[in-house]
Amino acid sequence: KEEIKVGLMGLGTVGSGVVRLVMNHQEDLRHQTGCSITITKVLVQDIQKERPVHLPPGVVTDHPEELLHHADIDVVVEVMGGIEPTRNYIRQALESGKHVVTANKDLMALHGAELLSVAAQHHCDLFYEASVAGGIPILRALVEGFASDRITRMVGIVNGTTNYILSEMKKKGVAFADALTEAQRLGYAEADPTADVDGLDAARKMAILATLGFHTEWPLDEVHVRGIGDVTLEDVRFAAQLGYTLKLVGIARQDAGKVEVGVQPALLPNEHPLATVDGVYNAVYVHGEAVGETMFYGPGAGDMPTATAVVSDLVTVVKNKKLGVNGRSVVSPYRERKSKPPGE
Ligand code: NDP
Ligand code: HSE
Repeated sequence: KEEIKVGLMGLGTVGSGVVRLVMNHQEDLRHQTGCSITITKVLVQDIQKERPVHLPPGVVTDHPEELLHHADIDVVVEVMGGIEPTRNYIRQALESGKHVVTANKDLMALHGAELLSVAAQHHCDLFYEASVAGGIPILRALVEGFASDRITRMVGIVNGTTNYILSEMKKKGVAFADALTEAQRLGYAEADPTADVDGLDAARKMAILATLGFHTEWPLDEVHVRGIGDVTLEDVRFAAQLGYTLKLVGIARQDAGKVEVGVQPALLPNEHPLATVDGVYNAVYVHGEAVGETMFYGPGAGDMPTATAVVSDLVTVVKNKKLGVNGRSVVSPYRERKSKPPGE
């Protein structure tokens, strides 16, 4: 097939980035895949809203069936967020043989196993690289790059909004609420930013990392979570006077078959590499038995970094289609749970 038709669900921060990236890199994408990629329909809530990207008349719709029941659409890219109706839309897309790319960590952390199994039943790809650490290709690294190793530990900063807030507080003395407002304006925060502030967004990402890294389905409700909602400028200044930097850190470790996953604020010595990760940047240490320590670093949120991950997944879908290996889900090693939480 020479043309791949995409139905895009959502035209906010990430959706607009996806449209820009597909348009700006059209020639490179065609060169890599041998196909032209066309965004045929875009689902939004409010079709009257002004958009930062230009699309031909008739493309934007508020009727989901125009994407889901459109036989011509090969791939659905879901960047609208939330659990319902999104879960239902993704199920419908997969059941009608459409491949799906999503950036939705809320959904994948809660219903990933179910949706990946629907994808497998219908020989479709379901990729979600953008759901963790924005522009860093960390899921692929875990599943493909370390396929030969046994991962023992993943430690890192996986939420851009809280890292931006804490950096602004430390470096510029900006008040918590003002830094959060700016993170929202820049498109880093979730629709409900308490998910960022309370550590839930990072917990969802750590659940996904633990599931993929440890080959065990790790439920969200077994991630211990503490956010940064009660952190004050005074705390940040006091820590700085003592030579420390406050960061929201996610930890997943596996030892003798026991897995522990959590998110909490931590005081790191200023010379610690994670202490120097500023602004919207994320960083994840991955420790493997054979490889030792590796570190991944890059922008963790925002329109273009996130769009990069989404469109790269789209490229893999197109390449898979061309090779006739639909259903070979690169990033879906959900297996029966092997490890137990400590104490069980
Ligand atoms: P936005 O709020 O900016 O955009 C959401 C878009 O989805 C809007 O265009 C909205 O329509 C549309 N939408 C929402 N609900 C519905 C619905 N029920 N029916 C139809 N359209 C709907 O969100 P983001 O772009 O920031 O995030 C999108 C997803 O990507 C989320 O899952 C988020 O967690 C994830 N993500 C975000 C990152 C970021 O940096 N922002 C990074 C990584 C992942 P309308 O415009 O009409 O309101
Ligand atoms: N709200 C998220 C963050 C978006 O700030 O990290 C990227 O997943």
